[in-house]
Amino acid sequence: MASSDQPRAQWLGRWGFMLAATGSAVGLGNIWKFPYMTGEYGGGTFVLVYLLCILLVGVPVMMAEIAFGRRGRGSPVDAFRRVVTESGRSPMWSVLGWMSMLCGFLILSFYVVVAGWSLSYLWKSLSGGLSAESIGALADVFDANNADPLNLGFWSTLVTLVTMLVVGKGVQKGIERSVSWMMPGLVLMLVLLIGFGAFSGGFGDAFAFLFSFSAGSLSSEGLLAALGHAFFTLSLAAGAILTYGSYLPRNASIGRTTLAVALADTVVALMAGLAIFPVIFANGMDPAGGPGLVFMSLPIAFQAMPLGTLFEILFFLMLSMAALTSSISMVEATVSWLCDSKGFTRRWASLATGLVLWLLSTAAMLSFNLGADWTLAGKTFFDWLDYLTSRWLMPLGGLGTVLIAGFLLKKSVMRDELGLGPRLYTLWLLMARYVSPLGILVIFADQLALFTV
Ligand code: PHE
Ligand code: NA
Repeated sequence: MASSDQPRAQWLGRWGFMLAATGSAVGLGNIWKFPYMTGEYGGGTFVLVYLLCILLVGVPVMMAEIAFGRRGRGSPVDAFRRVVTESGRSPMWSVLGWMSMLCGFLILSFYVVVAGWSLSYLWKSLSGGLSAESIGALADVFDANNADPLNLGFWSTLVTLVTMLVVGKGVQKGIERSVSWMMPGLVLMLVLLIGFGAFSGGFGDAFAFLFSFSAGSLSSEGLLAALGHAFFTLSLAAGAILTYGSYLPRNASIGRTTLAVALADTVVALMAGLAIFPVIFANGMDPAGGPGLVFMSLPIAFQAMPLGTLFEILFFLMLSMAALTSSISMVEATVSWLCDSKGFTRRWASLATGLVLWLLSTAAMLSFNLGADWTLAGKTFFDWLDYLTSRWLMPLGGLGTVLIAGFLLKKSVMRDELGLGPRLYTLWLLMARYVSPLGILVIFADQLALFTV
């Protein structure tokens, strides 16, 4: 390759990373999970803590994670091992790589089910199945969609298949390109829905619900939920961002890229809240309606809009694609590990991963019908996957990542990788060493009731 080609290839690469990382971050977490969690934990105070977690914990962790990936040039397991041994530390720390790979896989196992909801709603909006006019009737539609394991299993299987096909082909370009028009499309759709919400009579209530905080109104359970969701929504400690970072060209600025991804993700989540809650309040529905919230509320808004059905189709199409760009990123870590370290071809790696994923996601899917009673401590298998990953694996993985980056590595490693000026580097170091870890630990300590005993 002529050397004159290099700068162009690198620029494309950097853009590609931005798109792929944004594609990974922006997903069901923003549009499905953030609104219903905000509803469950009572609104503004949850939102405030979540925003603080993004800024003070998520951003430093994301920077470290991308740096690990780029420095280690491999799957999470290999990258962690290489980077720590380069600094003369024990290869044992690659346990964090294992943890994050496992975490991405477990998330995907329930994520596929929710992505399946999204696809089935796309189909319903195409075939007129969402014409119910009250939230109550839409709740029935949601329940009926879940009740039949063959129906729900069909959709989650379809999502699994498509994800593995895309990853199996390794069509980075395909993903990159689709994300570049889907994300703007999704944002446009949300703007329209917010516009609708503004006239629905519930906007003021929704705004107040999302943005007014009162001290002490968040339980320690809610604190941990906000922290966990900050990790979830930024795709952290799940192998995804690290593996994408391993494809990042050397000259790209990790700091700037991270801020852009975090900002885009946050904006989409807040927009989703502003689109969904006005409909909820205008229809006198309980904001703590749980996982079905989006699927019961938005169709109401669409039906009252001119060209509503068309927008509804587009919206569920965008949502399905946003979910797909996230699910691909979750599985990429495992597939790249099988290829790099275990000598699999990409195709076989995807097939093997896909089979295991199918088994786990089918078990998660059954939590909504046949296996609704298979509970442990009141949680179904689906709930457990969500709970274990968001509340425990991700925060602990993030904690390990910043602590290793901040204390164990030779100083030069992170300084070179992050490419920040001296002041910003010092700021990052301060965050990685103290602010993020303390934030995580305080929230854990609070959850474990260490302060009250
Ligand atoms: N960030 C994605 C979302 O908000 C979910 C995700 C988690 C993706 C972990 C990759 C890894 O939908
Ligand atoms: Na997200």
